[in-house]
Amino acid sequence: MFKVAPSVLSASFAKLETEIKAVVEAGADLIHLDVMDGVFVPNITFGPMIIQQMPRFEGVELDAHLMIINPEAHLQSFFEAKVDRIALHVESTTHLQRHLRLIRENHVKSAVALNPSTSLRDIEWVLEDLDMVVIMSVNPGFGGQKFIERMIYKVEEIKEMIIRKGLKVEIEVDGGVTPENAGSLKSAGMDIAVAGSAVFGKPDYAKAITALKEA
Ligand code: DX5
Ligand code: ZN
Repeated sequence: MFKVAPSVLSASFAKLETEIKAVVEAGADLIHLDVMDGVFVPNITFGPMIIQQMPRFEGVELDAHLMIINPEAHLQSFFEAKVDRIALHVESTTHLQRHLRLIRENHVKSAVALNPSTSLRDIEWVLEDLDMVVIMSVNPGFGGQKFIERMIYKVEEIKEMIIRKGLKVEIEVDGGVTPENAGSLKSAGMDIAVAGSAVFGKPDYAKAITALKEA
């Protein structure tokens, strides 16, 4: 079984506290936080100051996805905001391995996200430094985009790489995940499904999360 991480990008920002509480009660395993700077991606969302004020629930990790340039300049603020996972984009930074080590030293799970056009070769030599890989199945920047089907092969390939190296790295898939493609993604090796519109875009969050998990 895979975990479901609803993305608050598709929630009502005016009611973040109630929205997060509602998806936790509906069975969310993690809360996915899309941090956007308007430079790395076209949109601007929120940062550590808002995250710091988000409600916490036992056993439900806060999963920060940083779509910002020079993420290293802000890592300390995210540590202080008490997130459980931090994903950096491999395309956004130069000294990736150094930053991943710093994340782990601060007792936060380290992750790398890859745009659809980025090769898995770019992260092959940092796999040992990772707790999670985020395979983007849309070009980041917006919720509700169409899933890029061939990313299923990328999930298969990274799964093989992880097994070959005997590592325990979780695979998260982000973008356009629905009950229609979640089954194939699970077979390919997905451990965590990010779901924005597939959860917050539905009237009944519990039904939406169950529909994904039963796929
Ligand atoms: C895209 C974000 C995703 C987004 C997913 O830039 O990284 O996390 O919220 O939304 P859906 O599930 O609607 O594609
Ligand atoms: Zn995301």
